[in-house]
Amino acid sequence: MGKPRILLATIVPEHVRALLDDACEVVTAPGGARPTAEQLAELLPSVEGVLTTNQMAVPNALIDRCPGLRVIANNGVGYDNVDIPYATSKGVLVCNTPGVLSGAVADLTFSLLLDLARHIPANDRHVRSGNWTRGAGRIGVDVRGKTLGIIGFGRIGHVVAKTAQGFDLRVLYYDPVRDPAAEAAGLATYAERESVFREADFLTVHCFLDETTRHHISTREFGWMKRTAYLINTSRGPVIDEEALCAALQAGEIAGAGLDVMEQEPLDPAGTLCSLENVILLPHVGSATTETRLAMIELAARNLVNAVHGRMPEAPVNPEVLRDPASARNAQR
Ligand code: DGY
Repeated sequence: MGKPRILLATIVPEHVRALLDDACEVVTAPGGARPTAEQLAELLPSVEGVLTTNQMAVPNALIDRCPGLRVIANNGVGYDNVDIPYATSKGVLVCNTPGVLSGAVADLTFSLLLDLARHIPANDRHVRSGNWTRGAGRIGVDVRGKTLGIIGFGRIGHVVAKTAQGFDLRVLYYDPVRDPAAEAAGLATYAERESVFREADFLTVHCFLDETTRHHISTREFGWMKRTAYLINTSRGPVIDEEALCAALQAGEIAGAGLDVMEQEPLDPAGTLCSLENVILLPHVGSATTETRLAMIELAARNLVNAVHGRMPEAPVNPEVLRDPASARNAQR
């Protein structure tokens, strides 16, 4: 039997390419790197698996045109590029890379939190401007002793809560699923969603994106927040209603925001967000450290190789596809 044919739709280091070549027949788009949407549509129907990123949408209509497709392995923890119930109904297993990036994303969350609290970008600009006079830097606020609100208490939320202990922060969390073990361990205290918004001095968002969380944070939520509070988002841009956020920032309803993710990426530099002084903007670099990116791509490649060979991968999003294929398909009908 020949090797399973897979599409390599992202850049990988040499040793990962060797692992893939060993186990699979690898095809790539002309040019070898990330295919365009048109190239993806052309190549996907001819393969059993694809190694991609969550920035490459795999629409349902494309899945329909790929009866031989069995695995979509994302190099990333998010999987909002695929409609999971639909993929499940078509017997397509989706994999992601949870866990290995939690530390890096939590670190970036804290970078944003500290940068906001101490106006690091503005103070840096001040020094570079040549107008530095003694004592003229911007005064910030203390972090220690304040309240950190966490919306979405999954793996990353947990590491953020753990990190917060070193800053003597009181940690409140809201998640539709409570975590009694984390509460008992003193990691965080559960509170109703509205209370988390009302009480937080720093509010950090760690939700996944789907139709239940899109624009989940909007005018009403900004109205609940303290005028002195800072919002941080390292999850997915569309979880926050960006227009409402800009309005809240302009009206001084909240003190500022640190965003690693936006509704439209790349962000339009001529848009409102870029014109605001009380915002720190990063280009979606939550997981962007050498070690973490390496661990991610290695895990994503192992997921793909195992899954196309019919073995349960380490990080399946919809394991029922392999565990119980018939009922997975029926459940979605
Ligand atoms: C993820 O892993 O989902 C990060 O956002 C990088 O895409």
